[in-house]
Amino acid sequence: MKIRVNEVGPRDGLQGQGKTLSTEARLELIRALVNAGIRHVEAGSFVSPKAVPQMAGTADIFPHLPNTETVRYAGLVPNMKGYELAVAAGARVVNVVLSVTETMNQKNISMSLDQTAQVCTEIVERGRSEGIEVQAYLAVAYECPFEGMVSPEVVARFGRQMQEAGASKIIVADTIGAANPEQVRRVLDVLIPSVPSEKLSCHFHDTRGMALANITAALDRGISEFDSSIGGLGGCPFSPGATGNVATEDVVLLLHSMGYDIGIDPLNLVPVVKFAEELTGVSLGGKSYRWLDQQYRKQRGKSGHGR
Ligand code: COA
Ligand code: ZN
Repeated sequence: MKIRVNEVGPRDGLQGQGKTLSTEARLELIRALVNAGIRHVEAGSFVSPKAVPQMAGTADIFPHLPNTETVRYAGLVPNMKGYELAVAAGARVVNVVLSVTETMNQKNISMSLDQTAQVCTEIVERGRSEGIEVQAYLAVAYECPFEGMVSPEVVARFGRQMQEAGASKIIVADTIGAANPEQVRRVLDVLIPSVPSEKLSCHFHDTRGMALANITAALDRGISEFDSSIGGLGGCPFSPGATGNVATEDVVLLLHSMGYDIGIDPLNLVPVVKFAEELTGVSLGGKSYRWLDQQYRKQRGKSGHGR
């Protein structure tokens, strides 16, 4: 079975960093990821630079993205203005974000839940009429940092709405990394009758160290696409307490060792983790990183990392 690993470090990972990288440095990180074998990348977001200065200049990144024939790049948009900027910059895939609670939308994009659902529907429909693929994130799908536990039925309702509007993919996001495998199964079991598993993807943060366990629960429900960020880079500025996304090297190693076809050698990611550390000045690396670095040294005769 083929599994897609979608790298979100250049967006979800970088948006919360203390250090704002230049667009050239962001492009270099993307080039390093692509050279390591990554084929799906969320390359940035088209949002207000006042709200998220780390993502300023995404429009300058898109025209320079490498290997666009073989790599699928997406850009996140919070509203119609973002959609228009993304398309003008050359994006062929855009991601909308529908947080499934009222307060999260207010904090994130200053819109009500109803307004956000409406805007996301309009963007999905416009994308369809203009040949642009629109994927819909269902954010805070397990627990909201402001409103607490979320009912799976609410997630299913918005999933259905995005599916009916024509979203190409519905991505169930554990924005604050609060889910456990039992909750993952419950949400997917309620969602899958409305949105088939092949149209679903899962996005986990590793705040409580359960992201890999959650991925295996989702695999058991037939999910074949997962978001991750290199080195576990991340932490949403609008979700208090959230830490980074599940690390790409952990997800790739997990899937690789379980025998799934992902087309990425986990060792190739070792120097990319190091490079992301150099760029951000933050110490990175998923749970498997030390071991992977040792293997890298043994097999390739050089250090992937100085630590
Ligand atoms: N891209 C760039 N600029 C945008 C924009 C977009 N998609 N949407 C609005 N703006 C600009 C407006 O033109 C305006 O600019 P000005 O101050 O120079 O006139 C400014 O942003 C404020 O616009 P306004 O419509 O009043 O919105 P707001 O201040 O309520 O902010 C958002 C709303 C959605 C633009 C802002 O909250 C945002 O970008 N949030 C993104 C948060 C995020 O990325 N979260 C993580 C991923 S989900
Ligand atoms: Zn996230």
